[in-house]
Amino acid sequence: MSTLITGVAELTTNEPDGPLHDAALVLDGERIAWVGAASDAPAADERVDVGGRAVLPGWVDSHTHLVFAGDRTAEFESRMAGRPYSAGGIAVTVEATRAATDDSLAANLVRLQREAIRQGTTCLETKTGYGLNVADEERSARIAGQVADEVTFLGAHLVPPGADAESYVDLVCGEMLDAVAPHVRWADVFCETGAFDEEQSGRVLRAAAGRGLGLRVHGNQLGAGPGVRLAVEHGAASVDHCTYLADADVDALAASATVATLLPACDLSTRQPLAPARRLLDAGATVALASNANPGSSYTTSMGFCVSTAVLQMRMTVSEAVWSATAGGARALRRDDVGVIRVGARADVQVLDAPSVTHLAYRPGVPLTAAVWRRGERMPTEPGLPG
Ligand code: NIG
Repeated sequence: MSTLITGVAELTTNEPDGPLHDAALVLDGERIAWVGAASDAPAADERVDVGGRAVLPGWVDSHTHLVFAGDRTAEFESRMAGRPYSAGGIAVTVEATRAATDDSLAANLVRLQREAIRQGTTCLETKTGYGLNVADEERSARIAGQVADEVTFLGAHLVPPGADAESYVDLVCGEMLDAVAPHVRWADVFCETGAFDEEQSGRVLRAAAGRGLGLRVHGNQLGAGPGVRLAVEHGAASVDHCTYLADADVDALAASATVATLLPACDLSTRQPLAPARRLLDAGATVALASNANPGSSYTTSMGFCVSTAVLQMRMTVSEAVWSATAGGARALRRDDVGVIRVGARADVQVLDAPSVTHLAYRPGVPLTAAVWRRGERMPTEPGLPG
């Protein structure tokens, strides 16, 4: 089944010749089969005229934590009243997650993935990290692997209450890693005061690399620290948060292939300063934007919100922000088949109810997603009541 999408006022391709104007593209099965001027478009089985709207790659959300139960409304309310965010809140979600059935964890994950897709996300990474014992981390990884495009092991999210930190790191690096490895491509560690220190984080990263997993790091979220340096030294694909950066961190990122993944919705929800996107970009670092959807520090799946915040408050240009939320996310996941509109790429496409991507920031908060294709399949874009 092939689909010709025509009537495209602006086509963001993330290729050197883009954006294209008065363009068209053809989706064939799961792949993009043709891209070019509308006047040259070939025939296809079906034709969708988007009527002068903007088309771009689906968002690549490279950082979420969606295998969880419960919510943390009370914690959010007290934070808005002035209580600082701390890593310890993770334990509340761990308790609820351990008590949940497999089916309810899977249903919640699917619910949130659908919510993300309705807003244009077509490639989604998610993590374990609310199990924190072998059985619950293994089932989190297994459930995530049935739904998400990319799965990350985050057993090193928090030392579970009552556990000894050194023995817990041994467990993460040994039995837990063995149990999750069949279900995951990535491993991550929360290198932060209140979570794991530099030595412990390094141990986790070495063990994961030894098992052939790609690496990611949560670093420099709540204060300056060794997370960015550690990520670069270990050749991690990304270091996520990057809210508090020393000049040496920025220089190290600029000189490396490690992507700086910025999480503006989290910075806002935890009342942190917004990450220094402009410093990173001006230094030559690669920047991705992601939602960090999770029930504690950032309960949103909206990549559009992240893009508009990046433009309005972090001084990214619209094209930088759109690139970072599509091709940048793909780089953070070391993928070249998503976040781009080119022949052979995955047929992951979103249509905005607007003539250009500028409207993402010009009309913040407006639900602009008009149509979404994921792996070539047209996805529902309207929310509905269950049943
Ligand atoms: O990326 N920083 C660590 N992990 C999550 C927060 C998880 C939570 O608070 O439940 C984050 O912000």
